[in-house]
Amino acid sequence: MPKPNQTLGEFIIENQADFPGSSGELSRLINSIRLAAKVVNHEVNKAGLVDIIGAYGERNVQGEEQQKLDVMANKKFIQTLTNREIVCGIASEEEDDFIRIEGHNGDDKNKYVLLMDPLDGSSNIDVNVSVGTIFSIYQRVTPIGTPVQMEDFLQPGNKQVAAGYIIYGTSTMLVYTTGHGVNGFTLNPALGSWYLSHPNMKYPENGRIYSINEGNYVHFPQGVKDYIKYCQEEKDDRPYTSRYIGSMVSDIHRNMIKGGIFMYPQFSKAPSGKLRLLYECNPIAFITEQAGGKASDGFQRILDIVPNELHQRSPFFCGSKKMVEKAENFMRKSA
Ligand code: AHG
Ligand code: MN
Ligand code: MN
Ligand code: MN
Repeated sequence: MPKPNQTLGEFIIENQADFPGSSGELSRLINSIRLAAKVVNHEVNKAGLVDIIGAYGERNVQGEEQQKLDVMANKKFIQTLTNREIVCGIASEEEDDFIRIEGHNGDDKNKYVLLMDPLDGSSNIDVNVSVGTIFSIYQRVTPIGTPVQMEDFLQPGNKQVAAGYIIYGTSTMLVYTTGHGVNGFTLNPALGSWYLSHPNMKYPENGRIYSINEGNYVHFPQGVKDYIKYCQEEKDDRPYTSRYIGSMVSDIHRNMIKGGIFMYPQFSKAPSGKLRLLYECNPIAFITEQAGGKASDGFQRILDIVPNELHQRSPFFCGSKKMVEKAENFMRKSA
């Protein structure tokens, strides 16, 4: 049972029993993530002071202009996990291919793979708006002791063993699940410790916030246009409030606490939407379901999609259960 003001370290030890027969590897992995998160937090916090804002000068495999902090966060997470030989492989939004981590004996003995969006919301870095990190963990499917393979990464989201996000906001939080509910920890920067500040997080079943980049309105599918009109209609508890930060982690975090829906649909310029299934949609969908919410591509459960490539994208509708169901109804009606 989560106890308020417990530290993350205490929480991890106390909840190890959630994994009967576990060797403690997953706990060590979460420990390494909290360490990397502190390092990235430190860098993000001084972004206005040192030469770390702005473009890095290269494009990533997604076709996006990389920011210096994208590259830095990617490096810090990979370094921390590689040094601790805690996973057998890492895939990242910022890397073209997955990285094999063979361990110092070259024995490929670790059983988990990590997939991540090292810095979510890069366009907000230069303007001092919250950004985040998202991570997703699976057990490998190929035999331990052999080099990690693509199939270890291309698993449907329902096979995740853990997922989480870090939000570098007005305070820094780490929110994660291992399939036994969702817990949020806040960093006390003076002590460098994470405290359980949000035990057992739950989405309100319904909400009044909708989050979508309405600048793309004319290109949206009819179902999304209809749902937006529904949100804006003067009836019952509507019109709803529109909130869109442009850092998915921050938009999701707010909606999970207050009740709301986040949407990044497909549209003419982006036929599968923009968000990456493996680094963004799946981990957030796992957390969302564990918090009693719903995550869909407009028609089917995100966690049941079987991926066929690392950087695959998916339309994303995520949030309070009733709101996502409503949006799905509009999508179905005009399909
Ligand atoms: P990233 O910074 O990791 O590339 O992700 C940005 C994502 C997501 O955080 C956000 O919700 C969305 O892109 C914003 O996109 P638009 O600017 O197209 O609305
Ligand atoms: Mn990006
Ligand atoms: Mn992102
Ligand atoms: Mn990113």
